[in-house]
Amino acid sequence: MNFFAIDRSAEHEDEAEWERIRAKYPPQEPFLNLNNAAVSPPPTVVEEATVDAYRFISRNPDYNMWSKLDTALPHIKRELAELIDCSPGEIALNRNSSEGLSTAIFGIPLTKGDQVLISPWDYPSVRAGWLQRQQREGIEVLNCTFDLMDSDDDIIESYVQAMTPRTRVLQLTHMYHWNGRVLPVNRLCEIARERDIMTVVDGAQTFAQMPVSFRELDCDFFVTSLHKWLGAPIGNGMLVVSERRIDTTWPLLAPFDQPAVHIDRFDHWNLGTYNSAVQAGIAPAIQFHKAIGAERMHARLRELTRYWVGLVQDIPGFRLHTPTDTDSLAAISLFSIDSIDMQQLERDLREKHQVHVKYRKVEHVEGLRVSPHIYMLKRDLDAFVAALRSAVE
Ligand SMILES: Cc1ncc(COP(=O)(O)O)c(C=O)c1O
Repeated sequence: MNFFAIDRSAEHEDEAEWERIRAKYPPQEPFLNLNNAAVSPPPTVVEEATVDAYRFISRNPDYNMWSKLDTALPHIKRELAELIDCSPGEIALNRNSSEGLSTAIFGIPLTKGDQVLISPWDYPSVRAGWLQRQQREGIEVLNCTFDLMDSDDDIIESYVQAMTPRTRVLQLTHMYHWNGRVLPVNRLCEIARERDIMTVVDGAQTFAQMPVSFRELDCDFFVTSLHKWLGAPIGNGMLVVSERRIDTTWPLLAPFDQPAVHIDRFDHWNLGTYNSAVQAGIAPAIQFHKAIGAERMHARLRELTRYWVGLVQDIPGFRLHTPTDTDSLAAISLFSIDSIDMQQLERDLREKHQVHVKYRKVEHVEGLRVSPHIYMLKRDLDAFVAALRSAVE
């Protein structure tokens, strides 16, 4: 199959529909924003709801935040639970993936000698969190090594080989932010369950970029940021804790209400006063997302990636460091060009061509990460490709 063959038949009609969706986002300026994996712009309706809520708060802060705006939070949890296929009682709202990951990493009870399996590709703060526990408590953190371009079967085999009778936790990244590679997490979680190993899934990049079912995954902790692919206001995250782990996991912050009940022990309100206006933007972001649908969004993002990659195949020395022959391909990919300084190319694209992509380097992998969003059109990618050609030729 030629994944990069461009089907021009339905293209015109489709682009018109996506053009309408683009009009619902704030303009991205001055750069062509191809770094949506870092953080996505919220649709205008979300931005407006958040600003309105901020003004509303200023008129009577205490009452308007806690007796008005925050009363919508149980409803928001029900809506999120429907999207990710779990019980609302398993959802905690927080500020971002980093907070959710720290809650799991520092909250799982472990004793000296217990082993945790991570990989060199996990998010740097995730690795740092586990290594801190190793230093403080004498747990053992082991690295599972494999290549980001290995097959699913080979990666699963690497994890299985790295497990020992002392492995208590398997830390997994659903989609690597380095290059967009998706791990076979369902199969890995199943293997872990058979061995009584807990699973922490970092889904910062997958929730709302593609369909995710917590029930099917059946992991112990699933963590994501709502300000990435869902388009909620910046400063929103979600931690899903399986019912079987809620009571036995330590909260990161001592809960406000004692005794701490159920999932509330992980919610952001234990932090003290926070800005409720930010949470007020979650409901419109969910509505916006539902109107498009996770399946359709995933298909469009995959199509955009295949589209631009198809246009650059003839650039001498072009290399893609993301597997494309898979349905799990989505918005994120990483490329390099032989004999070109990729850091300099990142600067040139931004400074001379107003194109914003992200230089990434991890282990032996180095290149520019490209991550379009659904508000982008094929003509944006044509502009990116023209800029790339002009920068390297
Ligand atoms: C895989 C992964 N995990 C965790 C994070 C941290 O997300 P946040 O900065 O929203 O806490 C990111 C951010 O890009 C990520 O890509």
